[in-house]
Amino acid sequence: MNLIAFAASNSTTSINKQLVTYAVSLLRDRANAQVLDLNDFAMPLYSVDHEQAHGIPEAAQRLFALIGAADALLISFAEHNGSYTAAYKNIFDWVSRIQPKVFQGKPMVLLSASPGKGGAASVLKQAKESAPYFDADVKATLSVPSFGDHFDSDAGRLTDPDLNAKLQEALATLISSE
Ligand SMILES: Cc1cc2nc3c(=O)[nH]c(=O)nc-3n(C[C@H](O)[C@H](O)[C@H](O)COP(=O)(O)O)c2cc1C
Repeated sequence: MNLIAFAASNSTTSINKQLVTYAVSLLRDRANAQVLDLNDFAMPLYSVDHEQAHGIPEAAQRLFALIGAADALLISFAEHNGSYTAAYKNIFDWVSRIQPKVFQGKPMVLLSASPGKGGAASVLKQAKESAPYFDADVKATLSVPSFGDHFDSDAGRLTDPDLNAKLQEALATLISSE
């Protein structure tokens, strides 16, 4: 199984990137996984005028092609003011101009993490609820609250047994959908 994973954040110290990287490590025997970094897909701020003048950026085409070539997707959402980070939303808007079926029918697991108690549950809910409109097949979701209390950043792993079990369960849905 070819898996594409990324954090919906452009922070170089992203906790969501730490989480997807850990999740991918749990699948290492089952999946050929690639962890993408949104910084490698930087593109101008979306505007109708820019699109008319210059077309859709190559980076958007590249991401769309990577999604299309994958068997499954894993995304961990950072929450900014109750919603998507501007970096993710901008990339998403550009890719949706190629076609609205951004996720191309792929099975997906959606995660989220925040340093606070909310666990970025608000953005996770939005991502889950909107997913079908973009042709995503969401198999499972998991929010990780109080990231610093539940994740050992030095070891790069979730330390909370309950969250670990839930993550394993969520990831298993991708394997079983093969
Ligand atoms: C502009 C801004 C808005 C934020 N809004 C929220 C929020 O609404 N809910 C939340 O749980 N955390 C919020 N945070 C804190 C983020 O959860 C925190 O920065 C987290 O590390 C982001 O994930 P990342 O490290 O993967 O980028 C916000 C942070 C910033 C910079």
